[in-house]
Amino acid sequence: AMLRQVLARGRPALGGRGLAGRALSTEIQKVGVVGLGLMGHGIVQVSAWEGFDVVAVEKEQKFLDLGVDRIDQSIAKVLKSTEKRKPDMLPEVEATAAAAKARIEYSTDLGALADCDVVIEAIVEDMAVKTPLYQSLNEICKPETILATNTSSLPVQLMADASGRLDRTVGLHFFNPVQMMKLVEVVKLETTAPEVFDACMAYSKAIKKVPVSCLDTPGFIVNRLLVPAMAQAMLMVDRGDASIEDIDTAMQLGAGHPMGPLTLADYVGLDTCMFILQGWVDNFPDEPAFIVPECLKAKIAEGKLGRKSGEGFFKWDGMKRL
Ligand SMILES: NC(=O)c1ccc[n+]([C@@H]2O[C@H](COP(=O)([O-])OP(=O)(O)OC[C@H]3O[C@@H](n4cnc5c(N)ncnc54)[C@H](O)[C@@H]3O)[C@@H](O)[C@H]2O)c1
Repeated sequence: AMLRQVLARGRPALGGRGLAGRALSTEIQKVGVVGLGLMGHGIVQVSAWEGFDVVAVEKEQKFLDLGVDRIDQSIAKVLKSTEKRKPDMLPEVEATAAAAKARIEYSTDLGALADCDVVIEAIVEDMAVKTPLYQSLNEICKPETILATNTSSLPVQLMADASGRLDRTVGLHFFNPVQMMKLVEVVKLETTAPEVFDACMAYSKAIKKVPVSCLDTPGFIVNRLLVPAMAQAMLMVDRGDASIEDIDTAMQLGAGHPMGPLTLADYVGLDTCMFILQGWVDNFPDEPAFIVPECLKAKIAEGKLGRKSGEGFFKWDGMKRL
């Protein structure tokens, strides 16, 4: 996947922006990332690949080691795939990869983020864990540092309130896998300074993503439309309107979706779907699109969490739906 990006982009040995790009570019030059899990490691990789200096932070050495591994393995995959499909480009891509790795500073100390222009937070989706982090970031980072959250389901306003940086907080919502998915939702608070928003749009473009912007509403754009569609598909299952297979086939072939809503729910994880929907139901009881279907509760009670547990609405063998 990364290879396709590399090839599409052309001239990877220049490391993306090159010197001219940097001179023209925004105020964001140094990017901090906190949390090197599923999302954070990808954000580190694409930022370093496109020429940004990156400070990558985890809470403990063992998680930092895991993060380094994830990034190294993902870069190794790009090289392996280049070797197989475009061997003549291998030296160039190897040089880009080496330059990208050299731009990443790893640390377990939040202090390493002090002079970053933006810090992107990609830690667990739990406000009790995020709040103290934003308080620390406000104390540690220079006054200009923009604080950006990758949260999928929490209000960005909570991060701004926790940090006190009402004018310098945004959402930068990436999609999984970050290396492949082109979209970034740039979430603007009413208090976000225009130059902060502009800098985040420019950074998103500089890492070869397509930014869209929206206000701080539940689910932003994509999840506000996708998650209720998954819930509606589950309600059809509850009512017996159609079979699981037919619902998904219909949305693939009739609506042109790459996967049906129930396959997507399995892919995301049924516990994650439940977590998002229940949070919305609790916080927005008057929104009829937010509802927890019975079949979702039942699957979870049976320990069927989707792809990661081997079974949800469908049975799975690793990444493959059976
Ligand atoms: N998984 C997705 O598809 C997806 C998509 C878009 C956005 N998000 C959002 O991104 C964020 C991260 O999700 P993820 O799936 O990458 O989670 P993850 O569990 O894979 O990774 C989270 C990482 O954060 C680290 N961490 C936890 N507390 C920390 C702290 N105080 N300081 C430093 N590091 C800490 C953990 O060690 C872990 O490595 C969440 O807010 C989530 O809502 C997830």
